[in-house]
Amino acid sequence: MRESFREVYGADYPEEVTPLSYVTLTLLRRIAQAVSLGSGTTLIDLGCGRGGPGLWVARETSASLVGIDLSSVGIEQASRRVKEFNVEGRAQFEVSDLTALRFANHTFDAAMSVDVLWMVPDKQAALREIARILRPQARFAFTNWDRDLSPPGYPPQVSDHRPLLRDAGFLIETYEEIPGAEAKRRALYMRIIASRKALIQKMGEEAVEALMTEARRALGFEDGTDYLAHSRRIFVAARKG
Ligand SMILES: C[S@@+](CC[C@H](N)C(=O)[O-])C[C@H]1O[C@@H](n2cnc3c(N)ncnc32)[C@H](O)[C@@H]1O
Repeated sequence: MRESFREVYGADYPEEVTPLSYVTLTLLRRIAQAVSLGSGTTLIDLGCGRGGPGLWVARETSASLVGIDLSSVGIEQASRRVKEFNVEGRAQFEVSDLTALRFANHTFDAAMSVDVLWMVPDKQAALREIARILRPQARFAFTNWDRDLSPPGYPPQVSDHRPLLRDAGFLIETYEEIPGAEAKRRALYMRIIASRKALIQKMGEEAVEALMTEARRALGFEDGTDYLAHSRRIFVAARKG
């Protein structure tokens, strides 16, 4: 998988981050810039997975980090990676659902989230919860997809996150479609489909079949609808009003 990502993204692939997402070095830099943090501040990474993107941004900004994810496996791996990023003593991870966080109102100086919101069925509730735990004027930077159509089995998607963000009390500072992102995802899926046999040897049949289904569905090989053509990858930076 990593080889395929390297081939498609080139030098923009964030090698040390080993993301479980389509984040690039360019996007990580933009997130670090948008959250606008320094030492003595605390960032929360929502849906942190194995922790890489949040750890990278914490190192870059000198902020402290709290990472949360539904997956206990992800949280365990993230906790072990703190040392790799030289952020010992200022990064912690815990299992939690971003739609029901245990933190008090106005706890964090900023939030980030990489390729997570598409998985959350009630995006409106999620955005309200994120606004609740941020202090006034705090930034929320994230990547996700606006989708007009989504493959079968996906939770409900939205074609424009702006009304939901405004409803949750955010002022939108940046809302951009990431140029070329879906073309790269298409190239990656094609590469994955072509390398099926080699991938099975390295990852096992179960993991590869799940990946094949995702790729085949997104490209329209299952039902004839090219879902990638109906999806726009977005980078968003918003400020709590
Ligand atoms: C595509 S992965 C991205 C992980 C990480 N942000 C990265 O870039 O490597 C999406 C992550 O969101 C997590 N997730 C999905 N729904 C969640 C929720 N309601 N609360 C917390 N985490 C969630 C999943 O467990 C998964 O780790």
